[in-house]
Amino acid sequence: MSSVPVLENVSPAEHIQQLERDYLLQNYARYPLTLHRGKGCYVSDLAGKRYLDMIAGIGVNALGYAHPRITKAIREQAGLLIHTSNLYYHEYQGRLAERLAQVSGLQRTFFSNSGTESMEGALKMVRAHGNKLHPEKFEIVSLDNSFHGRTFGALSITGQEKYRRDFEPMLPGVKFVPLNDPDALEQAVSERTAGIVIEWIQGEGGINPMTQEYARRARELADKYDALLVFDEIQCGVGRTGNYFAYQLSNPVVLPDIMVAAKPMSCGLPLGCIVANERAAAAIGSGMHGSTFGGGPLACRVALEFFDMMPELLPQIRSKGAYFRSRLAELQKRHGFIKEVRGEGLMVGVDMDVPGKQMVLDAIEQGMLMNCTHETVLRFLPPYIISEKEIDRSVGILKKIFKKQ
Ligand SMILES: Cc1ncc(COP(=O)(O)O)c(C=O)c1O
Repeated sequence: MSSVPVLENVSPAEHIQQLERDYLLQNYARYPLTLHRGKGCYVSDLAGKRYLDMIAGIGVNALGYAHPRITKAIREQAGLLIHTSNLYYHEYQGRLAERLAQVSGLQRTFFSNSGTESMEGALKMVRAHGNKLHPEKFEIVSLDNSFHGRTFGALSITGQEKYRRDFEPMLPGVKFVPLNDPDALEQAVSERTAGIVIEWIQGEGGINPMTQEYARRARELADKYDALLVFDEIQCGVGRTGNYFAYQLSNPVVLPDIMVAAKPMSCGLPLGCIVANERAAAAIGSGMHGSTFGGGPLACRVALEFFDMMPELLPQIRSKGAYFRSRLAELQKRHGFIKEVRGEGLMVGVDMDVPGKQMVLDAIEQGMLMNCTHETVLRFLPPYIISEKEIDRSVGILKKIFKKQ
């Protein structure tokens, strides 16, 4: 690799880590691992050690690494057109928006570059909707323990004090309520509510699913008070649960007014979206929102390629997810410290009554990447292409790690 200089007495990985210590904001607490290349569900470090990737770039690398259809699309499109700005049309944005409308049940899309940016746009839509109806209709109801991103609006509705406290004051008019408590929700929503924002399955908050009853009450309350219901599908959406979007787990389907998604949409290229019904979309008129990069030809073309594969992937995500959870349930029987195995499809959490941080380090040692959220929940967001054999391997590694407890 030409970009890593060979220095005496310093390994390439140490050199890279030293550069980051000297020149980057010290906001990330990275694991001591420098990744270099990947293939399928495996990624390798600079020294060539392979890791089974059960977190996939926090739910981004949906087709793993170096998927031939994705690399082909990137190669071809990079030679044609990477960026145009939104001053002009290109071939792929409208086509991807049409696909999103077909699979979401919502009508109109705005493309962004990340999750938090999608949430910002959705919040502007909510505010503009409220403003049109009454100057005091600006409140947003969000959930305890939620995570919606790091920009100011998204942070303001993130129900975890630890992320917000250094940046107060936040956006005014945000109320937090507990998940799956419909009465608390009812008390918080009023004529002043412009929007209700919910993750169908809280990801960063510890893989906590919303009940259908709660979702239905949120829908009723949004309708009663002419507020917009927003589902944050950034982590749980775009196939992760074995449905295009997690709200499609409900029966009959509880449709939001606005849905935001991002992470896996373009298989590693930055792309996010806000998809809205006509009522919500009407809040945003000409010039009210925009993005220089959002919805560029490269990211949209790759996302279309990915969506073409989705009908084949979705049943596999459901069956592989069920298999993974059943194997984890076997481990739960053997280990009293495992309280619960939760999740849908390939969004899986193992809730424990012991800390998980050392387990994540042990997993790296054993050749597997996973994540721990909320101190005690091991989180797995593997690529959608994972095989049963790879799941068995991950369970084998977990067995070894759990034995140490
Ligand atoms: C549910 C949810 N919303 C929003 C975000 C923010 O997305 P991003 O990091 O792409 O800004 C995340 C990221 O983890 C998320 O899980």
